[in-house]
Amino acid sequence: MSERLLEIKNLHVMYKTDEDDVYALNGINLHLDKGETLGLVGETGAGKTTIALSILKLLPEQTGFITDGEIQFDGKDIVHMKEEEMRNLRGNDISMIFADPMSALNPLHTVGNQIAEVIELHNPGMKHEEVEKKVDEMMELVGIPAERKTEYPHQFSGGMRQRIVIAIALSCNPRLLLADEPTTALDVTIQAQVLKMMDDLKERLNTAMIMITHDLGVVAQICSSVAIIYAGEIVEYGKIEDIYEGDKHHPYTVGLFGSIPDITSTAKRLTPIDGLMPDPTKPLPGCRFADRCPHAMEICHTKSPEAVDFNGHRIKCFLYSQEGKTKEEGQ
Ligand SMILES: Nc1ncnc2c1ncn2[C@@H]1O[C@H](COP(=O)(O)OP(=O)(O)OP(=O)(O)O)[C@@H](O)[C@H]1O
Ligand SMILES: [Mg+2]
Repeated sequence: MSERLLEIKNLHVMYKTDEDDVYALNGINLHLDKGETLGLVGETGAGKTTIALSILKLLPEQTGFITDGEIQFDGKDIVHMKEEEMRNLRGNDISMIFADPMSALNPLHTVGNQIAEVIELHNPGMKHEEVEKKVDEMMELVGIPAERKTEYPHQFSGGMRQRIVIAIALSCNPRLLLADEPTTALDVTIQAQVLKMMDDLKERLNTAMIMITHDLGVVAQICSSVAIIYAGEIVEYGKIEDIYEGDKHHPYTVGLFGSIPDITSTAKRLTPIDGLMPDPTKPLPGCRFADRCPHAMEICHTKSPEAVDFNGHRIKCFLYSQEGKTKEEGQ
């Protein structure tokens, strides 16, 4: 039996800037079961990082706001959670790793001390020797010899630094790991190693993960389900086999993947699609993809489609809704 860890319903997030209000998320619905890995895929500016920051309630203060919707983590309401309790959750249950490992590491402390700090925070009163033993374990877990714990971040390669960041993120035994393009800044060969390691660790520790990526190879390799994000909305959502093997897709997914059927063998990178994402400061009456969509019908420009659900495979497009069909026939 799978158990629900995270449930996001109708999430709306807005960034208030001096000039405009940016509607970054416009009704996100997603869920994650314990131990599951969900991939978030979409072009730059689609809202992927904003989803992760919302879960951690780390949207920029005074600028980023959750304006509507619910986020439940293990049945607890995150949107209305007090900062103190939230800090507890961030330290104990949810960890995040970013593309640039240097931003997460303190250049002035040895990597061993940085891992130890997290362990001590989570195990108050733990004996020094025990903490050190756990540090060694964590280093070995991510494939770095424990004797290197006395070295500083600059003494490691990029891939090793990211392994250390992962060791730190996992030191609190989180139930959810948010990984925001964790391998993008690494060499291609190192990327594969780090990913493989994350995949193994996730299996071993049974950590649920949200993997934000531009890389379809990454999704195929480690995700159990996928959300395709476009302009602050999930346009398609499903199990990995729905996305990679199913015959129904959102036109945006098809564009993004180049061609769907042989996606694993050919397209590893997202295919650029002609045109631009709509201006996020202006609400649109219709489908946000309509202007770039080769299948756009009249209704697509005037009304926003509801997601059509095929056994959990959801596609937000009039091509699959009765309403879209009726309108098309009547045109
Ligand atoms: N601090 C901010 N202030 C104003 N607008 C912001 C801020 N952060 C993000 N945005 C806007 O919110 C939208 C979503 O941004 P987000 O960073 O979530 O995208 P993303 O999918 O993570 O993109 P990328 O792939 O480039 O990392 C974009 O239109 C972006 O310009
Ligand atoms: Mg981002």
